[in-house]
Amino acid sequence: MSYDQAEKLRNQLSSERTAKTIAVCSGKGGVGKSNFTVNFSIKLAQENHKILVFDLDVGMGNIDLLLGMQTEFSIADVLNNRISIRDAIVKSPYGIDYIPGGSGLHSFLEMDEHKEAIFYQGLEKLLREYDYILLDMGAGVTETALFFILAADECFVVTTPEPTSITDAYSMVKHILSNRADMPIYTILNRVRNQIDGSNILDNFHTVIHRFLDGKAQALGFIPEDANVMKAVMHQKPYTMLYPKTKASKAIDLILQAYVNQTKILIRKPGSFIERIKHFMKG
Ligand SMILES: Nc1ncnc2c1ncn2[C@@H]1O[C@H](COP(=O)(O)OP(=O)(O)O)[C@@H](O)[C@H]1O
Ligand SMILES: [Mg+2]
Repeated sequence: MSYDQAEKLRNQLSSERTAKTIAVCSGKGGVGKSNFTVNFSIKLAQENHKILVFDLDVGMGNIDLLLGMQTEFSIADVLNNRISIRDAIVKSPYGIDYIPGGSGLHSFLEMDEHKEAIFYQGLEKLLREYDYILLDMGAGVTETALFFILAADECFVVTTPEPTSITDAYSMVKHILSNRADMPIYTILNRVRNQIDGSNILDNFHTVIHRFLDGKAQALGFIPEDANVMKAVMHQKPYTMLYPKTKASKAIDLILQAYVNQTKILIRKPGSFIERIKHFMKG
């Protein structure tokens, strides 16, 4: 039995079975978070995990577009209690489920106790049903987005090699660690033009994080600049499906491998996603 299978079995046997929540974030926008989230999720699903992608990029959500789907409802309808969180879930043809983004994440803060209770109940059920819930965040940090990021079990920080993107990613990591020193952080460098550049930039980034933030962040690897990524976006199909052999798809395979190897040695932190959302909301 592989480690993964063993962990799955343990989870199934445990009454406290709960999805691992991963917030995918960045400092700067447009660095490739959503493309990464979708394609990484598809690869995870192919390893027999049940995946839910939660599009939390308020106003700019585009998971719909990347999957070539059109949906009637979004997270906004859930927060307004028009529909239940379960009814907002869409099944994609690629083995992953998702909740479409919409405007109005701020209404999360305006929910009364009754609405809040319904939302948490729904979320609790989803946490028991899925193996992983990936939160595709918007650029930067609005107050509500930050609650979700801080409440997650782990954070993936995506950056490109551009200095502005790196500095913004650094600020993001700093922000996260100053609120939750125990947060496991993984970094992904996207749109790398050559391998040596990629390794050097990622090394420097980690040296800085280590030296100035006294925090640990693990590099998961990099994704090359690949014209097939944009082509796939134009076709509204995930690149790992449309071009499984392209450089970017192969990179996702390696990142997934690196992730599985790293999490083998990480002991899962106790505490729950929902408890942490409540904790950070109340300040
Ligand atoms: N590895 C890559 N190679 C080439 N282009 C990429 C790559 N990753 C992302 N892009 C381009 O960047 C655009 C923005 O990506 P997206 O995932 O929507 O970013 P974000 O979610 O961070 O705003 C994509 O539409 C695509 O054209
Ligand atoms: Mg996005």
